[in-house]
Amino acid sequence: MIIPASSNVALATRDLKHLWHPCTQMHDHESVPMVPIVRGDGAWLIDADGRRYLDGISSWWTNLFGHANPRIAAALAEQARTLEHVIFAGFTHQPAIELAEELVRITPPGLDRVFYADNGSAAIEVALKMSFHYWLNQGHGEKTRFIALTGSYHGETLGALSVSDVALYRKTYAPLLLTPFLAPSPDAYEGEPGESPEQIATRRLGEMRVLLERHAHETCAVIVEPLVQCAGGMRMYHPSYLTGLRALCDEFAVHFIADEIAVGFGRTGTLFACEQANVTPDFMCLSKGLTGGFLPLSAVLTTTGIYEAFYAEYNAGKAFLHSHSYTGNPLACRVALETLAIFRDEPVLERNRQLAKHLATRLEPLRDHPHVADVRQTGMIAAIELVADKVSRRPFPAVERRGLQVYLHGLQHGALLRPLGNVVYFMPPYVVTEQELDQLVDTAIAGIEQAVGSTSLP
Ligand SMILES: Cc1ncc(COP(=O)(O)O)c(C=O)c1O
Repeated sequence: MIIPASSNVALATRDLKHLWHPCTQMHDHESVPMVPIVRGDGAWLIDADGRRYLDGISSWWTNLFGHANPRIAAALAEQARTLEHVIFAGFTHQPAIELAEELVRITPPGLDRVFYADNGSAAIEVALKMSFHYWLNQGHGEKTRFIALTGSYHGETLGALSVSDVALYRKTYAPLLLTPFLAPSPDAYEGEPGESPEQIATRRLGEMRVLLERHAHETCAVIVEPLVQCAGGMRMYHPSYLTGLRALCDEFAVHFIADEIAVGFGRTGTLFACEQANVTPDFMCLSKGLTGGFLPLSAVLTTTGIYEAFYAEYNAGKAFLHSHSYTGNPLACRVALETLAIFRDEPVLERNRQLAKHLATRLEPLRDHPHVADVRQTGMIAAIELVADKVSRRPFPAVERRGLQVYLHGLQHGALLRPLGNVVYFMPPYVVTEQELDQLVDTAIAGIEQAVGSTSLP
């Protein structure tokens, strides 16, 4: 039989001959299909055999307004014909300037300086280095440590991984990493029986206070994922934690780094998650949705006060030194500007609120499922926690890979669902329709049934 060169099988075979994919045990592909995508269309991805997959995870949480969005694509094409790239030291360009102006305008008040990098992890590296260097420039070289939350994820370069606490990614590389102080996460799922999310947040702030009392003198910053700890299992917490954390950081003179890389740009119901706590962090890291899912770009926003600690005559040696060749890439900046223009021109957040409500209604019956311990949602992020035992919340052993079964079921039924261990979640592009959400949920429920080996869904 002749296999067409453009088919799934032919492309997957060529891929597996030379490529090495991220977040993957490549051996899995002896049984798990490699899916060659040739085209995107709104919330859909289309493979080489013409099969369609509804992108329930916005392609690693990046896509906002649909794949191959014509408006963003046109802006990109026009920029490519004008200026594709220029060194960003000593030179600048209009897309970078306009994007900085726009980011300063839309982020919480007080964030007036923008430093570009080219992916989420790089933005975290920038924020960590900038925080440390700020204190050094202020004569506090003894501040060399960071505080992170249990269950946090901030990326996988060595600095970003250092302040992450997801064993799957961190454990192997631990000997290479900085050691942060870990503060218990305000994660509402981990509360005591009967404790409200707000009470958990208050208790966790008390523990943060104790940590700061002991270690603030040697600590540069506390870093958190505002409202949702995404890669750690879509664990969610009450906004009052952020308000309290801002006050603690001020009291103990440590920086507050808000990693809004996954939760920024409307994911949690507001444009930025920090808005729900009415706080301005000292550093805000943005990426992913910044370009609507088109190109890698990230930005670290900070305050004038921090910027000024670096501003000195050259030989004072206070300049911030961190450079990537593609810093401020004009194509990426232009695409980000078009993405932000869509937020201005269309009622994105209002529509998301409707979609989020619909999703919540559809997921509600799952609360009664014998293998579901929790159904949680913050805006356009919803998650279902699968467990072996509902009463004790005993998890399914990781080696059973229940989530992988949901993933495989999704692929067979036209949905891209990619559970995090035993957590099945939804984080679709904002252009998804209610009917498409229904399809995603139906597919997920059928996949969960198969994965838990139960037939007792409501
Ligand atoms: C909260 C958060 N921070 C940082 C990152 C790292 O971003 P990147 O994958 O672009 O390096 C991620 C990626 O998932 C993330 O979710």
